[in-house]
Amino acid sequence: MRAPALYVIISTAGVAHGKGMKAYLIMMAVRLLEMRRVLKDTGSIWLHCDPTASHYLKLLMDSIFGRKAYRNEVVWCYTGPGSPKMRQFNRKHDTIFWYSVGKTWTFNGDDVRITHVDGGPYAGGFQGRMTQGIDAEISKEYGTKGKIPETWWPQAKGNGLAVACRQKKQYVGYLTQKPLDLLDRIIRASSNPGDMVLDPFCGCTTALVAADRLNRHWAGIDLSPMAAKLVLKRLREDRGQLFDDVIHRKDIPARTD
Ligand SMILES: C[S@@+](CC[C@H](N)C(=O)[O-])C[C@H]1O[C@@H](n2cnc3c(N)ncnc32)[C@H](O)[C@@H]1O
Repeated sequence: MRAPALYVIISTAGVAHGKGMKAYLIMMAVRLLEMRRVLKDTGSIWLHCDPTASHYLKLLMDSIFGRKAYRNEVVWCYTGPGSPKMRQFNRKHDTIFWYSVGKTWTFNGDDVRITHVDGGPYAGGFQGRMTQGIDAEISKEYGTKGKIPETWWPQAKGNGLAVACRQKKQYVGYLTQKPLDLLDRIIRASSNPGDMVLDPFCGCTTALVAADRLNRHWAGIDLSPMAAKLVLKRLREDRGQLFDDVIHRKDIPARTD
């Protein structure tokens, strides 16, 4: 596949931000090109990044998947205490880009609806409000089914979007572990049972556990030996007897450097 803008984007990031970012983007570009290659026509890619690199990564995504494939920029917001004597606001959000590939894509909005809770016009079940036209239809739909979430996904009481280390039941001690409910919403919304989920940076396998529970096929890749150990432990615990079905490639030689 040709993506002529990549060279310019990566070189510019190298000048604006530095050599480290340039090297990171080269590493990412190669992998994103491969993800583009293996995605089926109705598939989607979700790219989770922190705000240090998200603006550069969005340029890579536009250049590899095309600007028309851009669906959403989701902002996952969570809370944390910060540190004393901070000289800036407490950085507590991550950016997740959703791109599709072809002319159609899976979006199971009904499977991820949430209750509308703010005090605006659609609050409180809508009785006695907006009885005509499109507003009335929206009122009825929201009141009975809940709403399709906005593009900002805040941690809230009981919604499972707190950082994983604060969710004792699921935390396996992996530093960058993500909450299961975050991956559950993404996978539920943009794939169907029987579809394939690939996480090429799977860490302690949160996406794969979520995919497995939702009856999707899955595959994961990670270079960290610690991640590999945790993948096996977590899946064994989560799948119980079904764990014997998991194919664990052991024919790949360990890194020696
Ligand atoms: C942000 S973490 C993913 C965390 C994961 N979502 C979870 O919940 O555990 C990124 C992962 O990418 C892995 N990684 C970094 N560079 C890699 C590469 N070039 N190839 C494969 N995995 C890589 C790291 O070892 C790390 O586990």
